[in-house]
Amino acid sequence: MRAWIVLAVISMIALTASAQPTVPAEPFHDTLRGLTPLDEEAKPPLIAPVDNRDVIRARAYAQQPPTIPHKIDGYQLDRNANRCLACHARSRAAESGAVPVAVSHYTDRTGETLEHISPRRYFCTQCHVTQADAKPLVANTFTDLPDVRLPPARQTVKK
Ligand code: HEC
Ligand code: HEC
Repeated sequence: MRAWIVLAVISMIALTASAQPTVPAEPFHDTLRGLTPLDEEAKPPLIAPVDNRDVIRARAYAQQPPTIPHKIDGYQLDRNANRCLACHARSRAAESGAVPVAVSHYTDRTGETLEHISPRRYFCTQCHVTQADAKPLVANTFTDLPDVRLPPARQTVKK
């Protein structure tokens, strides 16, 4: 009888040991790497050609840095020279016909407006990107500003 109990206890222990939670073998998915495992090199998608049509795109939200509606190939942008400012500086806009940079670009982090571009806005391509006919990498249900400010019943995009 006692041997039987011992056997039962041992087999129960063995059973619980084998019922360890296992991580389901879900394939690793990444928006840029796809299903390529981390230790292998992914085949990068082709880079979409830059739109160069001079058509300003609507902004998705009020504080979005506008996309660049022209090519920027070969424009020098480093500590020695800023080709963008040659056209976009407020002092150059009348001559170049470019949209002058917003006043926010002359404001430093203490809120003071400077007479030159603020260092934190010097490297334009940190925030502004050229336009391309590229598909979004991830889906989203973002609601634009006019909709956010409406009472929920009048929003066109339902959350
Ligand atoms: C030769 C002059 C010139 C240079 C250099 C230039 N731009 Fe432009 N940019 C323009 C003009 C003109 C427009 C107005 C739209 C158009 O004609 O393409 C414009 C439009 C833009 C806009 C859109 C603004 C809006 O309100 O939507 C952005 C952003 C921009 N440029 C960023 C840049 C950046 C960043 C660089 C440097 C990498 C740069 N530009 C260099 C002339 C220039
Ligand atoms: C830290 C991010 C950042 C950097 C760096 C930056 N911008 Fe912007 N830019 C923005 C944002 C955000 C807006 C829209 C909100 C605003 O006006 O401040 C904007 C707006 C603009 C506009 C539209 C202005 C208007 O009145 O419609 C132009 C043109 C522009 N930027 C050009 C540039 C150029 C040229 C540079 C480099 C000298 C630059 N930006 C650097 C974030 C940035």
